[in-house]
Amino acid sequence: MSATPSSNLGSAGAGDASPAAVVVLAAGGGTRMKSATPKVLHRLSGRSLVGHVLAAARELDPRELVVVVGHAREQVSAHVAEADPAARIAVQEEQRGTGHAVRTGLAALGPVEGTVVVVCGDTPLLTGETLRALSATHGADGNAVTVLTAEVPDATGYGRIVREPGSGAVRAIVEHKDASEEQREIREINSGVFAFDGKLLAEALGKVRSDNSQGEEYLTDVLGILGAAGHRVGASVAVDHREIAGINNRVQLAQAGRSLNERLLERAMLSGVTVLDPATTYLDVSVTFERDVLVHPGTQLLGATHVAEGAEVGPHTRLTDTSVGAGARVDNTVALGAEIGAEASVGPFAYLRPGTRLGVGAKAGTYVEMKNATVGAGTKVPHLSYVGDATIGEHSNIGAASVFVNYDGVNKHHTTIGSHCRTGSDNMFVAPVTIGDGVYTAAGSVITKDVPSGSLAVARGQQRNIEGWVARKRPGSAAARAAEEATGRSEGES
Ligand code: UD1
Ligand code: CA
Repeated sequence: MSATPSSNLGSAGAGDASPAAVVVLAAGGGTRMKSATPKVLHRLSGRSLVGHVLAAARELDPRELVVVVGHAREQVSAHVAEADPAARIAVQEEQRGTGHAVRTGLAALGPVEGTVVVVCGDTPLLTGETLRALSATHGADGNAVTVLTAEVPDATGYGRIVREPGSGAVRAIVEHKDASEEQREIREINSGVFAFDGKLLAEALGKVRSDNSQGEEYLTDVLGILGAAGHRVGASVAVDHREIAGINNRVQLAQAGRSLNERLLERAMLSGVTVLDPATTYLDVSVTFERDVLVHPGTQLLGATHVAEGAEVGPHTRLTDTSVGAGARVDNTVALGAEIGAEASVGPFAYLRPGTRLGVGAKAGTYVEMKNATVGAGTKVPHLSYVGDATIGEHSNIGAASVFVNYDGVNKHHTTIGSHCRTGSDNMFVAPVTIGDGVYTAAGSVITKDVPSGSLAVARGQQRNIEGWVARKRPGSAAARAAEEATGRSEGES
C-alpha cells in the first residue's frame, strides 16, 4: 500500500514515520462566533474544538506538539494543559497572520529536522487517519510541502488552490480576499492543514511579506516561495470535504456538530448498537458500548457513559458519566454519575444523581429520585420516592411515596436498610437511622428510631372512627344521604 504521487487520502501508507512536530494554530479571536468564550474552546460531542484537533494530531505520534495561543491565552492555555499535558504552548502576542503564528510556534521548538505538520485549532472534524495519509504522501513524494485540499460546493472565504494549466502542479494559494474573479471560480480550497519540511519551512517563513489585502503574514505564501525556488510542492485532495470544515460561526458549529454526531453514531452502529433514530440521538466522543445495545429516540449519552451488552436505553433519556449494566432497561431517565447494575430497571421518569449504585436486577421506578444511594441486588423502589444518602440491602421492597429524610437543614445523614425488608407506603426514614434485615414497617410510618431485624415497626397516630358524625354535623347533605342509604338508618336515629 505504498503511497503514489496521486495518493488517495483514504489510506495511510505503511511504515510512515511520525513527524518531528505538529503546530496547532489557535491564537485567533473568533470574532464571528460573537461569544465570550474563545472560539477553540466551544464544545462539540463533549470535547472542545481544539481538543478534537489535538486528539487527531496525537494520532500522528509527533515528537513535539506546540499550540500557538494569543487571544484569551490564559483560558486557552489552561484548557490545553488539561486536555493534552504534553503539549507545549507558544504565545503569539499579536495576531499577525498564519505565517507569523507558525513562526512563533517554531521559535518555541528551536531548530526542527524532519516533517512539521500544521493544523488549525478550529477544524474539529479532521481525523488522525487523514493526517497520517497526508504525512505519508508528503514523505513518499519527497515534497517540500504538501497541502491538504478539498473540492467544496461553496469556496467563499477559503484560500484557492491555483494549479499550473498543463501539469496540474500546485503553483500557489490565493486568499479569497486577494483572489481575482477568475480565481474565485476555483472550487479546490486550502484546508489549512499542511506537511512541511521543517528546515525549508523556517527559511521560507523568513521571506513571507505582509503586502496583501489583510496586511498579514500568510502561511499560504510559503507554497509559492518554495515552488519558485524549485522545491516540490504537492497537494492531497481529501476524500470527504466535510472533514476539513473550519468553524468560524455558530451555523458552522452546528453543522460540524451534526457531522461529528453522525460519525459517532455510525461507529456505534457498526460495532453492533441499534440506534432507532439517529436524528434524535446524541453521543459524546467518550461514550462506549458493548454489542446489542438498543437506543430509543431522543437519547443523549454523554461523558464517560458506558452501556453494556443487551441493555436498552431511552426514549427521552440523558445519561452522563453513567454505566449501564448488561440487559438493564433505562426509560425516560436522567442520570449523572450513576452505576446501573445488570438487568436493573430504571424509570420511566427516574432521576439518578451522583453516587447512585443499583445492584443486579434492582429497580428505581416511576418518579423516583436517588442520590448517593447503594441499592442491593433485587431491591425495588418502584414508585414516587426519594432515596438520598442511603444503603439498602438485597431483595428489599420500599413502599410507594417514601422519603429518605437525609437533611436536617445543616447536615446530611445516612439511612441503612437491611435485606429482605418490606417497608410500607408513605414512610419517612428520618436519618440517621438503621433498619435491620427482614423488617416490615407499617404504611404512613415516620421512622425515627432504629428497627431491629425481624420486627414490624409502626410509627403513626392511631385511627379513631366517630360514628354518626356526618348525620349530626352535616344533616341534609349529599354525604348524609349517602350514609343513610348505606347504613339503612335515618337522620337522628343512632
Ligand atoms: C485560513 C487560510 C486559508 C484557508 C482557511 C481554511 C491563511 C492566510 N489562510 O484562512 O487559505 O482556506 O484557513 O480554514 O492561512 N491564527 C493564528 N494567528 C494568527 C492568525 C490566525 O493563530 O495571527 C489561527 C486562527 O486561530 C485559526 C487559524 O490560524 O485557527 C486560521 O486562521 P483564520 O483567521 O481562521 O484563517 P482563514 O481566514 O480561515
Ligand atoms: Ca478559519
